[in-house]
This record gives sequence, structure tokens and C-alpha cells, in this order.
Amino acid sequence: MQTALITGANRGIGFEIARQLGHRGFSVFLSARNEGRLEAALEHLAKEGITAEPLLMDVSDKASILEAAKQFGRYGIGLDVLVNNAAILLRSDNSLSRGHDDVLEQTINTNCYGALRVSKAFLTYFNTPARIVMLSSGGGSMTDPVGGWAPAYCVSKTLVNSITRQLAYELHSRGIVVNAVCPGWVRTDMGGAGARRPVEKGAETPVWLAAEAPLSLSGKFFRDKKVIDW
Ligand SMILES: NC(=O)c1ccc[n+]([C@@H]2O[C@H](COP(=O)([O-])OP(=O)(O)OC[C@H]3O[C@@H](n4cnc5c(N)ncnc54)[C@H](OP(=O)(O)O)[C@@H]3O)[C@@H](O)[C@H]2O)c1
Repeated sequence: MQTALITGANRGIGFEIARQLGHRGFSVFLSARNEGRLEAALEHLAKEGITAEPLLMDVSDKASILEAAKQFGRYGIGLDVLVNNAAILLRSDNSLSRGHDDVLEQTINTNCYGALRVSKAFLTYFNTPARIVMLSSGGGSMTDPVGGWAPAYCVSKTLVNSITRQLAYELHSRGIVVNAVCPGWVRTDMGGAGARRPVEKGAETPVWLAAEAPLSLSGKFFRDKKVIDW
């Protein structure tokens, strides 16, 4: 049985990725920063016959990441898939030139340092081969026109893409593939009610990258199971 760890998995796309991987027979570690919300998500999965293991982890907090990695180590098992899903998009994220520096700092700390620190902290547990899936966004594209929305978030996703490429290069010799994915515009708390895609569709390509995509694909950016420009 393969083991997958998904960060920020108590709701939204992360929860749906956990649900879909659970139904595919993965042993799922459901990670979230809030104990109550984590418990509620586990109960939800249990109703569908999925027994997931809880892992409390705030990806914006170094100590919390290290503690979660230690907790995982106690299970004495290897990790086949890490999905770096947790991210924030702050309401005050309106302008880089006029906005408060805190907005960019907080966003990068969670979305970029979070994903990188989690990858590093769990590296010791990875099986070979293994897969890291980075939830990115078309907002981070360097080839699409700038959309004018959530600039700090978009900068953070450009950085996530760059981290993906560098990690893919560095971890190739360890047999770990690393890819970024844009889930599309998805109806979640972050995407809002007007988004075009249901959460099942948003999770489709991340799940494919976690479970099925050829291991020859690494250091790439995907949408709908196809490589897209950075
Ligand atoms: N929805 C879209 O249209 C869309 C489009 C492109 C990319 N994405 C990306 O897809 C991923 C999932 O998005 P979503 O729409 O599902 O977002 P969401 O509904 O806002 O859910 C975000 C999840 O991340 C968790 N989280 C935030 N900060 C965290 C932290 N410091 N530590 C641990 N968990 C944390 C949240 O936990 P709490 O419940 O504790 O807040 C929540 O579980 C993100 O990486 C997002 O950038 C989404």
C-alpha cells in the first residue's frame, strides 16, 4: 500500500485529493493546522470508509513542521507521495506597490517556505520512487498576462514553480519526481462560489500526478494532465 501525505487537507482541494487517494487505496495522512477541523475532516472521510491518519502541522511554523515530521517518523513507514497543498490568499492582497509588506511576507512564508520546509523535513522518509506534487496556480505563470488580482499570491506561486524546478533537479538522483499543478479555477473557500470547476475536477490532475503520471515527468507544470508553460 502506498502512503500519501497531504498538507492543508481539512477542506477544499486538499481534502478532495485525500478523499480520492483514499478511494484509490492509498494510506492517507491528513494534515491540517487546527485539531478540531482535522477531526471533522477525518470523520467525513470515515463516513466514506476511508481511515486516514491525522497529522497536525502548521506549514507557516518551522517548529510545527519539524514536530509533524517527528510524529510521522514514529509510524516507521516510508512516504510515497507528498502533496504540498496548503496555501493562503489574503483578503488584503490587492497591491504590491501600495499594500503592506506583511501581506507578501505572510503569503510567501505559507505558500513557498511552507512547501519547501515540509518537503525538506519529510525527505528522510521518502521511498524510491516517490512523488512531490506542488499546488501552484496559473496566477504564477510568467507567460500569461498579469491578471491584476492577488499580486502577492501570484508572486508566491511563481516562486512555487521555481522551487519545483530546483527540487526536481536536486531530487532526481533520489528517485523523487517533483511537479507543479494548476488545478484551474475551483469552487472552494479560496476560489469562491463563482469559480467554474467543482472540487472533484480541481483534484483530478493533482491525484493523477500523485498516483499515475509517468515517473519520467519531473520539473514540469501541469493543467488538466498536460504540460503547460511556466
Ligand atoms: N481554488 C482555486 O481556484 C485555486 C486555483 C489555483 C490554485 N489553487 C491552489 O490549490 C490549493 C488548495 O486551494 P483551495 O482552493 O482548496 O484553498 P482553501 O479552500 O482556502 O483551503 C486551503 C487549505 O489550506 C490550509 N492552510 C492554509 N494555511 C495553512 C497553514 N499555515 N498550515 C496548514 N494548512 C494551512 C487551510 O486550512 P484552514 O482551514 O486551517 O485555514 C485549508 O485547509 C492551494 O495551494 C491554492 O493556492 C486553488
